[in-house]
Amino acid sequence: AIRTVHTVAALRAQVNRWRAAGERIALVPTMGALHAGHVALMDAARETADRIIVSIFVNPTQFAPTEDLSRYPRTLEADLQKAGSAGVELAFVPDVDEMYPDGFCTTVSLRGPALGLETAFRPTHFAGVATVVAKLLIQAMPDVALFGEKDYQQLQVIIRLARDLDLPVEVVGVPTVREADGLALSSRNVYLSAAERAAAPALYRALMAAAFRIGREATTADAVEEARAAIIGAGFELDYVEARHAETLAPIASSMEGPIRLLVAARIGSTRLIDNIPV
Ligand code: PAJ
Repeated sequence: AIRTVHTVAALRAQVNRWRAAGERIALVPTMGALHAGHVALMDAARETADRIIVSIFVNPTQFAPTEDLSRYPRTLEADLQKAGSAGVELAFVPDVDEMYPDGFCTTVSLRGPALGLETAFRPTHFAGVATVVAKLLIQAMPDVALFGEKDYQQLQVIIRLARDLDLPVEVVGVPTVREADGLALSSRNVYLSAAERAAAPALYRALMAAAFRIGREATTADAVEEARAAIIGAGFELDYVEARHAETLAPIASSMEGPIRLLVAARIGSTRLIDNIPV
């Protein structure tokens, strides 16, 4: 059965017992409202580790004042059920004061893969993400931590964070889990009306069409422009659709070598969706 702890001290006590027994420990950080995408991270964790910890913390510092912090879905009982069924031994569920005690004033500052894309629309987002993930990694000291490719820029920021701060953890990316029609699973999909839900797969289709055309009959720039038109045509308000270097997330120069990733963020109604695919 899954055990829940609310303090860093209790988390570390359990981790220390496992570590003393020589066990390999995985951490899956989440904000709860767990779905099959999160479960895929837990499944991947089970492949590589003896013990799995899931953290469930709706991190206020990664939401801007205008964003959906207060209406973010909170489903703790169902989350613990799902995590337990996926073989998770320990849920770390801190409250805000445990993570951000009075006087808290330290944040991680980022460049590199944090530049542009999400940051152009959510300028304080990744500082909040990177700071809370650094804390979670230091609190739990797992051997491996798993993150979804769904949040691709976040994954690249965290890979860089761990490397740059010498956090002794292997950061593993897990492919995006999708609905049958291609829509990437997201805790925010519950906000979609029936009509919005029907339109939403256009995002993935536009990326797939662009990825197919690049290197065949279109330049990267032309394929991205076509994706832009398709997404707007499907009723989205587009924040960005871009081709970037798949690891550094540097903007693509026409002469550039190396793997390319297509990334998109767009709003439909009051819901903001993101997606990305390899080329
Ligand atoms: P959250 O949105 O709850 O996502 C937790 C993890 O699940 C992230 O690594 C995310 O990329 C992954 N995930 C979400 N949907 C997925 C899907 N359809 N397929 C595969 N993986 C998916 O991302 C966060 O929380 C937070 O920013 C966090 C890292 C916990 C820091 O607060």
